Amino acid sequence: MRKTIVAGNWKMNKTPKEALELIETLKPLVAGRDDVEVVFCPPFIDLMLAVEATKGTNIKIGAQNMYFEESGAYTGEVAPNMVKEAGCEYVILGHSERRAYFGETDETVNKKVLKAFEHELKPIICVGETLEQREQGITEDLVRMQTKIALKDVPAEQAVLAVIAYEPVWAIGTGKTATSVQAEEVCAAIRKVLCEIYDEETASKIRIQYGGSVNAGNAAELFAMPNIDGGLVGGASLKADFAKIVNF
Ligand code: 13P
Repeated sequence: MRKTIVAGNWKMNKTPKEALELIETLKPLVAGRDDVEVVFCPPFIDLMLAVEATKGTNIKIGAQNMYFEESGAYTGEVAPNMVKEAGCEYVILGHSERRAYFGETDETVNKKVLKAFEHELKPIICVGETLEQREQGITEDLVRMQTKIALKDVPAEQAVLAVIAYEPVWAIGTGKTATSVQAEEVCAAIRKVLCEIYDEETASKIRIQYGGSVNAGNAAELFAMPNIDGGLVGGASLKADFAKIVNF
């Protein structure tokens, strides 16, 4: 039985002070949901404060990215052991915004996934197609390839700790959600490719989230689909409404 995971990707929002305010607002609202894993992914600068502020609660903290080298002359980057030592349990990797604006590729995502596991961080691996790719009919091919490359050389015992987030690019921040049927179709295809890479048992343990304009109104229907095990939430994770998604 896969535990539902609802993660908030705060993106480039919330100063340390604002982050603390949001955490204090949400803490009581998401408390007591032991059947749902709740993860907040604030910007790097907020991470240590967020870890401190959520100690003893059911909220886990994740980073939104990290680099694949251990240390050195990589100005502006953050190393895996820094993310780990800050107290993070998760790290989002390969978000479409990083692919689109910061040169992230399937290969760098794979390097980061391998590094994350080396440092006992659980990766939330983002995959998903653009509108153009969907209209071309290559959604499943693309998502299969992204998933396969991201998990290259990852053994099954680590893969079961990973989360795959299916985020159609056209549904991110647009208010345009994939229908639950569309989302399920692709999440089922991801499950199938996991089964091909590993085996049925491993594939049945890996959680697959849907992301893209998830809100309090559509979460229940999406999360009820057999291959959707929760959501990666952007805009709606910045408000008290996020608790309604956790309590879908
Ligand atoms: P929105 O929920 O704002 O569409 O963002 C989704 C997302 O990119 C989460 O990673």
